[in-house]
Amino acid sequence: MLYSRCDQSPAWAGLQDLYLAQGRGFDLREAFAADARRFETWSFQAPEVFADLSKNRIDAPTLQLLLQLARDCGLEAQREAMFKGEAINHTEGRAVLHTALRAPAGQGLFSDEVQAALTRMLTFAESVRDQASSGIRDIVHIGIGGSDLGPAMVVQALGAYTQPGQRLHFVSNVDGHDLAAVLPLLEADKTLFVIASKTFTTQETLANAQAAKAWFLQQGGRDIARHFVATSSNTEAAAAFGITTAFGFWDWVGGRYSLWSVIGLPIAIAIGAEHFRALLAGAHAMDEHFRRTPLERNVPVLQGLIDIWYRNFHGFTSRSVAPYHQGLRRLPAYLQQLEMESNGKGVDREGQALPYGTSPVVWGEAGTNGQHAYFQMLHQGTDVIPVEFIAVKRPNHGAARGELAERLADQHQKLLANCLAQSQALMQGKSVEEALQEKAPTASKTLGPLTVARHRSFPGNRPSSTLLLEALTPRSLGALIALYEHRVFVTGALWGINSFDQWGVELGKALCNSLLPRLASGDATGLDGSTAGLLAKLRA
Ligand code: F6P
Repeated sequence: MLYSRCDQSPAWAGLQDLYLAQGRGFDLREAFAADARRFETWSFQAPEVFADLSKNRIDAPTLQLLLQLARDCGLEAQREAMFKGEAINHTEGRAVLHTALRAPAGQGLFSDEVQAALTRMLTFAESVRDQASSGIRDIVHIGIGGSDLGPAMVVQALGAYTQPGQRLHFVSNVDGHDLAAVLPLLEADKTLFVIASKTFTTQETLANAQAAKAWFLQQGGRDIARHFVATSSNTEAAAAFGITTAFGFWDWVGGRYSLWSVIGLPIAIAIGAEHFRALLAGAHAMDEHFRRTPLERNVPVLQGLIDIWYRNFHGFTSRSVAPYHQGLRRLPAYLQQLEMESNGKGVDREGQALPYGTSPVVWGEAGTNGQHAYFQMLHQGTDVIPVEFIAVKRPNHGAARGELAERLADQHQKLLANCLAQSQALMQGKSVEEALQEKAPTASKTLGPLTVARHRSFPGNRPSSTLLLEALTPRSLGALIALYEHRVFVTGALWGINSFDQWGVELGKALCNSLLPRLASGDATGLDGSTAGLLAKLRA
């Protein structure tokens, strides 16, 4: 029997019982002591990504019930429905086919259209990269949300693959300081503006695009057609804006799943057609893993099930992401949209209020920077926050040679040691007794040793996962991103929600449109006291 929501499955009640009987008392240190093969049992190789899940509060009986839950919720059928192009985004009547964008030619749905759009986009990207004929030195990508976060994150992550001599800038915020900071770096005749908006109605993007156009004309720029292009599924609106070169895509590509489409144009300009295809190929390899690997070895499925176990049974409300690679420093921001816009929902597919929690808060910072900011709370705070470490085995420090190369290689060893140490410390902790045995030279001499030891102890048993990449390449990055996409799919499918709409962003947009003229007129009729008071202050 299939259930549309996880709480209707008998496995849900079984998991509740299991949590009370064993789950809440689960101790990672004891689990490792009792099972010398725990690492082997709980680590998995997916395409390009090795996932060590062994430092999670999970055991075989729990996994069996979670897998039962997934089967009861028809996870495999739901997955197939996505790949086959059924309108699983039912509130907008749309298919969800970002996987088709990375399928090899001849495979996947809409292959002819997809390949034609890809070829056209890549050909254009290569022509821009040919600086001798394009004359383009700066590319300014204007977009927001899914039309910014993915491309910006990938371009930064793949910095080692970008060609010298061309600079990419990303402008997203309606705050004019964002664009204003970039414009002084540009020369009109050497600049290409890419206006990226799926809908081509987004306030921020249109405002920045208008301002960019005004700047271009002020600088004496004349050839708008050559210096402004659009990537959008609404090419009519782009044309109405005055942009004649537009790259279109389809409504079955969600904004936060769109970096694989023509929205990826800045990525293609930065890394070139061949590497862009490698990014797609890596994602496709992960698609195949997700689609075809049995659930018990399927990494996005296993991670999604652990997410459910933590969110709905342990009651953990947040998850921290710690990429130990400077190039991945925008990954947490990207994942925030991917996961929280997809699964931050309070009703099931029929619109019924949910009695259980959905998306956790996803947040984080590149390692080791986060260690010197909020890791204190992860280690000793009152909340348990599962952490996801991402480490890259082989660095790419570019053309460094001699002593510099040696020093940077040494820094990479330090980076990796820090990454391992943090997950080890979170799990291991330190008892008061252990702390009492240690010297604490910086502790106040006026405090008793026991008090000092209590301050210096760590509860431990704090869970984490570690994802390992051999190297940060277009292919491995594509696989990593697709892994996250599918994991979000898994949790959304079990929660019985629509992970592919985002009605929650509408109210604020509508209220902004009504407040904008009030800022000019001062009309506060019908406003609540706080909004009216703030409006008056801003106008004073
Ligand atoms: O924030 C809401 C949202 O619709 C996102 O889902 C989307 O990625 C972003 O705005 C930008 O939308 P568009 O690409 O249509 O400008």
